[in-house]
Amino acid sequence: MGATIFYHTGTGNSLWVARRVADELGGAELVSIAECKDEKTAVSSEIVGLVFPVHIWGVPAPVIRFVNTLKGIQPGYVFAIAVHAGQVSNTLVQLKTLMAENGLNLSSGFEIAMPSNYIPWGGPGPQEKQRKCFELAQEKVSRIAVSIKGKEDMPVEKGPLWQRILFTAIYNMSFSHVPKMDKKFWVDDKCNACEICCKVCPSGNITMREGKPVWNHRCEVCFACLQWCPQEAIQHGKKTPGYERYHHPEVLLKDMLKER
Ligand SMILES: Cc1cc2nc3c(=O)[nH]c(=O)nc-3n(C[C@H](O)[C@H](O)[C@H](O)COP(=O)(O)O)c2cc1C
Repeated sequence: MGATIFYHTGTGNSLWVARRVADELGGAELVSIAECKDEKTAVSSEIVGLVFPVHIWGVPAPVIRFVNTLKGIQPGYVFAIAVHAGQVSNTLVQLKTLMAENGLNLSSGFEIAMPSNYIPWGGPGPQEKQRKCFELAQEKVSRIAVSIKGKEDMPVEKGPLWQRILFTAIYNMSFSHVPKMDKKFWVDDKCNACEICCKVCPSGNITMREGKPVWNHRCEVCFACLQWCPQEAIQHGKKTPGYERYHHPEVLLKDMLKER
């Protein structure tokens, strides 16, 4: 019985949302998807939730792999929250279809906007805008919790049709290229070989060679390595040296390391 919330996160936004939903439900077990690798996941909770970031207008690969391990579970109620930076697009429709293929009914799917961690397009934006975003997110979490408690069955939330057509095509085209998108990572002179990038990577994609991190092309581009680097030594492409780093202010590095 009770509730289990599975979460995937690069910079803590989804973990923060998962925590807040758990609080509003009066408690729930929080499980990192990164800890559920390749096993058939046994779930006995009455309520099962999935909280994860939108990546390239769709469901990130680790979440797809995780859902495929859920075949055969029979929870009373399944919900999902797609955490994004303004464009949820078709993500929750994609997830609902994927769940149906695994014999699961996604009863409700919600979107929540948070600051962007996609640093190639710039930093997270001004502090004041971030603060407003957290406030709105908290309000939405409270509304979502009411729906979950009432076990409401409703259509999943989605972006406008033009987004779903155009961006789903981009998602489909880029999906197989994601693992190699780590080719653009590099380290500058500030790297002190602390190895936090290796520890924080949910895909175990980073190893050390001659005192410097090496990315091994199993990347999920969550940007945890770059965003959590205490020296801000990890870069991606040419522009990131000038961009502000981001992680959710209430999620600490130790929270990320504990879960991995
Ligand atoms: C590779 C990548 C792709 C992203 N794609 C989208 C997207 O398609 N739409 C969107 O609104 N936000 C997108 N984002 C932003 C994240 O979804 C957003 O910042 C989210 O809150 C991050 O959650 P996390 O801290 O739990 O990882 C993307 C971020 C990354 C790293």
